[in-house]
Amino acid sequence: QVDVSWQPDYEQQTIRFHYESADLANVKWWILGFSDHGEFNVSDHCLFDVETRQLWDGFVNSRFEMSRDRQQDCHLEAVTNTSFSFRRKFATCDPKDYAIEVGTNQLILACSSTATANFSSPAVTAQIAYGLLIVPKHDDAMPEEPDQFTIHVHADRAKVPAEVTTYWCIIQRLPEAVLNRKHHVTWLWSNVTKGNEHLVHHMMLFHCPTGNQQEFEGYCNDPAKPPEAKACSKVIGAISMGEGPVLYPPEVGLPIGGAGYNPYVMVELHWNNPAKRAGQVDSSGFDVVVTPNLRPNDAGIMEIGVIYGDANSIPPHQAHFEMSGYCTADCTEKFPEEGINVFYSQLHAHLAFRKLWNSLYRDGVKVSEFNRDNHYSPHWQHLLSHEPALNVRRGDVMATTCIADTRKMNNVVLGGYGIEDEMCISYLYYYPATDIEMCKSAVSNETLHRFFKQKGIKDGSMTISQKYKAVEWDDENVRDLSELFATAPLNQHCYRSDGSTFPGHPTNWSRIEHPHFTYGAYDKMRAREECQALND
Ligand SMILES: *[C@@H]1O[C@H](CO)[C@@H](O)[C@H](O)[C@H]1NC(C)=O
Ligand SMILES: *[C@@H]1O[C@H](CO)[C@@H](O)[C@H](O)[C@H]1NC(C)=O
Ligand SMILES: *[C@@H]1O[C@H](CO)[C@@H](O)[C@H](O)[C@H]1NC(C)=O
Ligand SMILES: *[C@@H]1O[C@H](CO)[C@@H](O)[C@H](O)[C@H]1NC(C)=O
Ligand SMILES: *[C@@H]1O[C@H](CO)[C@@H](O)[C@H](O)[C@H]1NC(C)=O
Ligand SMILES: *[C@@H]1O[C@H](CO)[C@@H](O)[C@H](O)[C@H]1NC(C)=O
Repeated sequence: QVDVSWQPDYEQQTIRFHYESADLANVKWWILGFSDHGEFNVSDHCLFDVETRQLWDGFVNSRFEMSRDRQQDCHLEAVTNTSFSFRRKFATCDPKDYAIEVGTNQLILACSSTATANFSSPAVTAQIAYGLLIVPKHDDAMPEEPDQFTIHVHADRAKVPAEVTTYWCIIQRLPEAVLNRKHHVTWLWSNVTKGNEHLVHHMMLFHCPTGNQQEFEGYCNDPAKPPEAKACSKVIGAISMGEGPVLYPPEVGLPIGGAGYNPYVMVELHWNNPAKRAGQVDSSGFDVVVTPNLRPNDAGIMEIGVIYGDANSIPPHQAHFEMSGYCTADCTEKFPEEGINVFYSQLHAHLAFRKLWNSLYRDGVKVSEFNRDNHYSPHWQHLLSHEPALNVRRGDVMATTCIADTRKMNNVVLGGYGIEDEMCISYLYYYPATDIEMCKSAVSNETLHRFFKQKGIKDGSMTISQKYKAVEWDDENVRDLSELFATAPLNQHCYRSDGSTFPGHPTNWSRIEHPHFTYGAYDKMRAREECQALND
C-alpha cells in the first residue's frame, strides 16, 4: 500500500525516509522498524500516527511489547495527506536504537489498524523488507559508445508455473557479429518484465564453453533439455532481486565471442512464486551491451572463500560460529606481476551464515576489509562496486569470513551445494584476467580426521559428514572445532578455468600452513563502547 524510499546524507550522517501512498490515512500507524535480521522482537522503530501526525521513536521488547524511547531520535520533516518524511541519524548512541550500517540493513515495514502496545496483536501487519542499502551510489547507466549493440537473452512469454520454486532455462546462439570477432561486454542488466519484479528472484547468464549445443527454452530439469547443456556453467553474469546493472570500468571489458568461442549462452531464471499464483507470464532475461572496440583490459571473475564440501561444517545450536576460507599466498603468487584489481565483489552464503566479509592481508597485516555485510540475507545479494578498484598483489592473502547462527537448527549444517548446506564464498570481478578462476580453502583432511579420532570417532570407514554427525557438539567440542578452523593447515583449491590445478606445488596444494596475521588498531566506523546500539 505504500512506497518507501530513502536518501542517505553521508556528510550529516543521517538518513531521510519518505512514505508515499494515496491510502495513507487508511491505517492508524505506520511503522518502520530495524533489527539485525528482521526479527520483530527486540527491534527499534519510528512510528507515525496518521491522526495526530506525530512521529515517535519506539522499541519492541522480547515479549513484543511496544514502548517509547526516553530519547526521541526520529524527526518528522514534512507531512501531506498522502505522504510523510522523517530523518534519523545513522547512529543515535541510544542502546535501544539500531545503528544503521554501511552495506545491507534489514527493515521491518508494519502498520497497525488500532493503537496497541502489542506488536504481535492481529491489529499489526508486519513484514521484513530486505535490503536498505547504504553505499555511495555509483554511476551504472548504460554506456553510449559508437558501434556498441545489445544482445537480448530473454524468456519468450513463458508461462510461470503455480509452483513456489522454478528454474527456467533459455539456451540461445549468440549473434554472428559477436562470433566473427572478439567483443567486450561493457554493461549487463537483468531486464525484468514490468510487473514481475516480485517473481524473478535471481538470474544467471552462463557461457557453454564446450559441446555441440542447440537452442532450448524450458524447465532447467526438463528431460528434454539437451544433455550437452551441462557444460553451460561458465558465469558471465549473476543478478539478484533488487540489484542494478553491472557497468564495467572504462578500461575493462569482459571478453565474449571471436574465433573458437563456443556460440551458445544460457540464462537460468529463478522464479519465486510463494503464493503459487497461476497464469503469470514472464519475458525476463539479460540485456548485454557489447562493443567490438576492445578496451585495454580483459575482465575475469574469481571465486574465493571456503571450498564446497563437508570439511568445514557447522555444529548446531550456535549463536555465533565463525569460519574463514583463504586465498593463500601460494595461489596469489600466480597472479600477474602488477597484481589484480577488484572492481566488484559479491558475497554468497545460504541460510545459516548471517555476517560475511572479505579481508586483504599483506605481509601478515590486515590492510583492507571489503564488502562487509553484518545483515546478510540470501534473499538480498548484491554486487558491491569498489571505486577505485582494490589492488591485490602477488603474495597477498585474501580471506572470506562467515559467522553462522544455528540456534534454531538441531543438526550439523554441512558444507556443500544444497540450499540446506552452507557456502561461504565471494565472487570477485577483476582485471586483468588471469588463469585463476577459483582460490578457496578448507581445513586439511588429515588434520580433520585426527581431530575426530581424538573425539572418540575411530571408525576409519566413516565419511567426514558421518563423523560430524557422530560428535556430540557440547561447548568444549565446539570450542575445539573453532580452534581447529582458526589454526589448522589448509587444503587450497587454486584452479584454472579448465578445472586444472598448478603443478609443482611442494605439498600438492594440501597441508598449507594456516596464514598468520598481526592485528593492530585501524579505523572503525563507530566506537562501540562510546556509542552503543541495539545491534552491538
Ligand atoms: C523473541 O521471542 C521469542 C518467542 O516468541 C523468544 O524465544 C526469543 O528469545 C525472543 N528473542 C529475543 C532476542 O529475546
Ligand atoms: C487533506 O485532507 C483534509 C481532511 O480530509 C482535507 O480537508 C484537505 O483538503 C486535504 N488537503 C489536500 C491538499 O488535499
Ligand atoms: C499480544 O498478542 C498476541 C496475539 O493476539 C497474544 O497471544 C499475546 O498474549 C498478546 N500479548 C500481550 C502482552 O497482551
Ligand atoms: C527490456 O526488454 C524489453 C522486452 O522484454 C525490451 O523491449 C527493452 O528494450 C529492454 N530494455 C533494454 C534497456 O534493453
Ligand atoms: C578431502 O576430503 C573430501 C571429502 O570430504 C574429498 O572430496 C577431497 O578430495 C579431499 N581432499 C584432499 C586434498 O584429499
Ligand atoms: C595432487 O592432488 C591431486 C588431487 O588432489 C591428485 O589428482 C594428483 O595425483 C596429486 N599429484 C601428486 C603429484 O601427488
